[in-house]
Amino acid sequence: MSLRAADHSKKPDNRTTMELGACLPLTAEVREGDLYIGGVDMVKLAREEGTALYVYDQEDVETRMRLYRESFRSIYPHADVLYASKAFLNKEMARLAAVYGLCLDVSGGGELACARMAGFPMERVFVHGNNKTPQELEEAISAGVGRIVVDSRIELARVSEIAGRLGVTQPIYLRITPGVEADTHEYIRTGCEDSKFGFTMLEDFAFRCVKDALEAPNVQLVGIHCHIGSQIFALDSFREAARVMVKFMADVKREYGYELTELDLGGGLGIAYTTHDRPSTINEFARVTVEAVRDFCGEYGVELPRLLVEPGRSLVATAGVTLYTLGIIKTLPNIRKYIAVDGGMSDNIRTALYDADYEAVIANKADEPRTEIVTIVGKHCESGDAVAIDAAIQHPDLGDVVCVFGTGAYCPTMASNYNGQPRPAVVFVKDGKARVTTRRETYEDLYGRDC
Ligand SMILES: Cc1ncc(COP(=O)(O)O)c(C=O)c1O
Repeated sequence: MSLRAADHSKKPDNRTTMELGACLPLTAEVREGDLYIGGVDMVKLAREEGTALYVYDQEDVETRMRLYRESFRSIYPHADVLYASKAFLNKEMARLAAVYGLCLDVSGGGELACARMAGFPMERVFVHGNNKTPQELEEAISAGVGRIVVDSRIELARVSEIAGRLGVTQPIYLRITPGVEADTHEYIRTGCEDSKFGFTMLEDFAFRCVKDALEAPNVQLVGIHCHIGSQIFALDSFREAARVMVKFMADVKREYGYELTELDLGGGLGIAYTTHDRPSTINEFARVTVEAVRDFCGEYGVELPRLLVEPGRSLVATAGVTLYTLGIIKTLPNIRKYIAVDGGMSDNIRTALYDADYEAVIANKADEPRTEIVTIVGKHCESGDAVAIDAAIQHPDLGDVVCVFGTGAYCPTMASNYNGQPRPAVVFVKDGKARVTTRRETYEDLYGRDC
């Protein structure tokens, strides 16, 4: 894995921290040169808790949860918001989702176990995954989860058999691949025809499988689901997905005389990782999807269904930042300047995986302009181990606290122990207080499982 070549046309933007706009968590502010989030000094926090450190602005998370629910319910009362827990999950996060009235999307036994430990209401849990193991299915059904989103015909038979054995009727959705190409990175585009997820619509396969689901014992088909991808800016893609899905519901009604009453349009709303990104707002997303569902239900003669969406990234990414301590500076003449931090691909794989871009600042120089372009690399044994490539930043010195914004989604949950790196702690900050909600891993945690 190699690093993207330096872009020598990129110039420092001279912005100070507070000029990073939508990339900042809600409560970010600068006091006497230090970055504060949730009223907590990030420089002090980094020194007290150690780095690398994940920090979440709790007010930001809570505000978005409230906003998502209100944006949908105010214009479509029969709407629910599922938090896609793959974006970030610990017990505190599950607790917050429960308090703010969200449902929870879990994709496997581990996420389900976390929800149970946190006391999350099981009837509000939706289970996803393209290869849920029989054991995971049994755990989910016996826990009484609200919906299982069935991803294949093989799984349909498994769910039916397990539910029968447990003496219950399990409400299910079928995940449909709507053939919509979302404008996003190919690795996080999931609704197009060539996808491992869901029932393909090619050759009417999904449509024929509805009949199987209707005939299967011990399951009740209540709805359909799609998820077209992630970090999507063009809301037209969601409108198109809604059209395909509502038409599918109409076809089912006409052909099988059966009314599907729930429609889950997945997640995928993009966020501003950099100052160049122009994502839509949660309100616009709600307006476009609701309008699309109303329009197409009218057009195809379908009763308005219960409508669900499954945001992950747009609920938590901006709320989260990662703090590091700067350990090494290297300048390669006419190539680039590297600054190495005490984490990297082990706590943030997105740059190596998707060529992601981030905004960063030096938290102890937060009111200074970003006068340099650097590549922020990690401490791991891979050349491609970078956190931010060609990033504008304040003049760096050893020991500085580097803050990378927008790391709240798909960073902690994709973290690894590469090079024996213990995974960072997760701290929630609010009203001047910092709470460790997941402690830092220890060496004992890393090797205590060895026999
Ligand atoms: C089925 C499903 N729902 C929801 C999401 C959340 O997507 P996002 O974080 O882009 O909102 C994902 C992410 O991959 C997903 O696979």
